Amino acid sequence: MSEQSEARSGAEVAAHVELEWALAIGLIVALLLAIITFTTIRWSTMPPSRVEVVDPAKLHQSGEFVESNLGTGVDQSNRVIVHLLAEQYSFNPHCLVVPDGVSVTFRATSADVVHGFLILGTNVNSMLIPGYVSTFVMTLNGVGERAMPCHEFCGVGHAAMWAKVKVVPLVEFETLMREKRRVSCV
Ligand code: CUA
Repeated sequence: MSEQSEARSGAEVAAHVELEWALAIGLIVALLLAIITFTTIRWSTMPPSRVEVVDPAKLHQSGEFVESNLGTGVDQSNRVIVHLLAEQYSFNPHCLVVPDGVSVTFRATSADVVHGFLILGTNVNSMLIPGYVSTFVMTLNGVGERAMPCHEFCGVGHAAMWAKVKVVPLVEFETLMREKRRVSCV
């Protein structure tokens, strides 16, 4: 009799302990899922490089991405800077001029949906996200033309969204820059 009740209480204790462990593990799993969900949503909405924001609705009115400021220019500290704007379904300008063997800063954004910025044969590969400025520095070596396709699906015209980059000798670039504040090969 007493042996039976001892056995039953032993089973009850075991069931109780198991329930406690199940609850503890359930809480740990829930916490990990919450962390994964939060970080996924938080970081998947961030651009790949550093975060710099811009109002995509006002790009055409003011700021560095107005029509007259697009293309390649040289700033006060003699840095070569390219300003590029992506829109369904074209890049503006759709032909970029950069000097051969010189460090170039690219600053680009999108006016509508997510586009891709890729220069074939180089490490230039970035997303262009409305509301964010994608910035990177790259030196293109070797005179010639390189294709620049949009590589993020952006709508029905995606496959036709192409541009090109013309790498020219530095002397030729300097001559072009003497004539205009912003250059392109459009
Ligand atoms: Cu723009 Cu695909």
